[in-house]
Amino acid sequence: MSEKIYTKNLPENFYSEDVAAMKEYEKQQFFLKKLKKIISDLEDKKGRKLTCNVTTFGCQMNARDSEKLLGILLEAGFEETASEQADFVIYNTCTVRDNANQRVYGRLGMLNSYKKKNKEMKIALCGCMMQEQSVLEKIQKSYGFVDLIFGTHNIYKFAELLLRTFETKGMVIDIWKDTDQIVEDLPVSRKYPFKSGINIMFGCNNFCSYCIVPYVRGRERSREPKEILQEIEKLAKDGVKEVMLLGQNVNSYGKNLDTPMSFAQLLREVEKVDGIERIRFMTSHPKDLSDELIQVMKESKKICRHLHLPLQSGSTRILEKMNRRYTKESYLALAEKIRKEIPDIALTTDIIVGFPGETLEDVEETIDVVKTVQFDNAFTFIYSKRTGTPAAAMENQVPEEIVKEGFDKLLKVVQETARMRVKRYEGQIMSALVEEVNEQDSHLVTARLSNNTIVHFEGDASLIGQIVDVSLEKCEGFYYIGKRIR
Ligand code: SAH
Ligand code: SF4
Ligand code: F3S
Repeated sequence: MSEKIYTKNLPENFYSEDVAAMKEYEKQQFFLKKLKKIISDLEDKKGRKLTCNVTTFGCQMNARDSEKLLGILLEAGFEETASEQADFVIYNTCTVRDNANQRVYGRLGMLNSYKKKNKEMKIALCGCMMQEQSVLEKIQKSYGFVDLIFGTHNIYKFAELLLRTFETKGMVIDIWKDTDQIVEDLPVSRKYPFKSGINIMFGCNNFCSYCIVPYVRGRERSREPKEILQEIEKLAKDGVKEVMLLGQNVNSYGKNLDTPMSFAQLLREVEKVDGIERIRFMTSHPKDLSDELIQVMKESKKICRHLHLPLQSGSTRILEKMNRRYTKESYLALAEKIRKEIPDIALTTDIIVGFPGETLEDVEETIDVVKTVQFDNAFTFIYSKRTGTPAAAMENQVPEEIVKEGFDKLLKVVQETARMRVKRYEGQIMSALVEEVNEQDSHLVTARLSNNTIVHFEGDASLIGQIVDVSLEKCEGFYYIGKRIR
């Protein structure tokens, strides 16, 4: 069952007994119908469409959730706008590092000024940040102009929450501790017609000691393979060529299903879906990456030649304190095995600098791994103290100057290595999926290679969504300038 943390202005079953008895999906459809009426009445009153804006912070999971939010909003009758001066604005927030939180607070001030000009504007906040007690208190105290707050576990109730927001005065709040519900088939509005993320699991059980995700996203739950495959088949029929399977730790997919299934087995099934030409996934935890997965990737014609394998640190001492459950040596051995089996694979990673107790010698260990593995790209983060995590309570938090020194040194090596790795395909021909017209130069289009590298070449909007062959003429640091061959 779903345990609530905090609810305000949202009486239990605020409609009727009949509605309360409905299945969750039907319930939300019922609320959506009511909502449509309200929005269409407002539209008549204003003599124009109501506009909405969804802004996403954080990871691919949040991006996918935002597509669900937008799906409901469009279905309700809103029109999407790129401007935050809209009738309904929602921020889907992230709290993985403190700078994500600060950005939200900064922008909320701006929203308040928009609301002063448009008194009927509604402002909503949802996502990971809202699962934190201290955030909720701060918003109630200092940002009273917010109309709706909900968290990560009840996003499927968005239609109901929206309806309530339009029907009541005062801040509507609904935050849950966890949920066992996975509601399928609600409306979704995809950002790209030709590619899509798909949640295969929710939550995380790993409790890396620095990380807040398990606290804000709850326990790990896998979706039924049948539901995942049906969704992918539907997407393929709708023109999607590339899917990205999403989970905080996809390698542990399926362990808690009634009929357990491994991630590698799921991939084999996804591979069979007609119309899907490319398969990606995120994120893989090194401790759970199986030989079976390497084999499936190796044999696959559709799984992209890219693996994101977060390292976090190259020092075994620090890895242990991070509760990552692998060592420097086992990570190196794993990377070597993958490269040996799939030589053309691009390996990318995440690294944290400044974890409590980390010394410059530890950073040297990390640099050593970067040099040995030769990552194609690495995202480097400065450690951010997250309240409630074990690492936040650790002594010897690292002074800023030391963190900065280690970070700069690491970044330099990461960039040099990535530049060299990306360049190695110069002169070759590879297939690329065209994603968009180049923002800076409209004569160019931007496409993605299987190994996730970007290539720009001459072309127009008619190519978007097509997989074409491109000659990789010149490497410009982290991307290519190419020429279309076919
Ligand atoms: N589930 C994924 C990561 C999700 S968070 C995994 O395990 O790989 C994305 C990245 O943010 C992490 O890989 C980590 O490098 C970084 N990160 C998480 N918590 C952080 C913190 N407290 N400070 C700095 N970076 C952090
Ligand atoms: Fe966070 Fe670790 Fe879970 Fe990734 S695996 S989300 S870093 S706790
Ligand atoms: Fe951020 Fe939540 Fe993703 S904290 S990184 S949006 S799971």
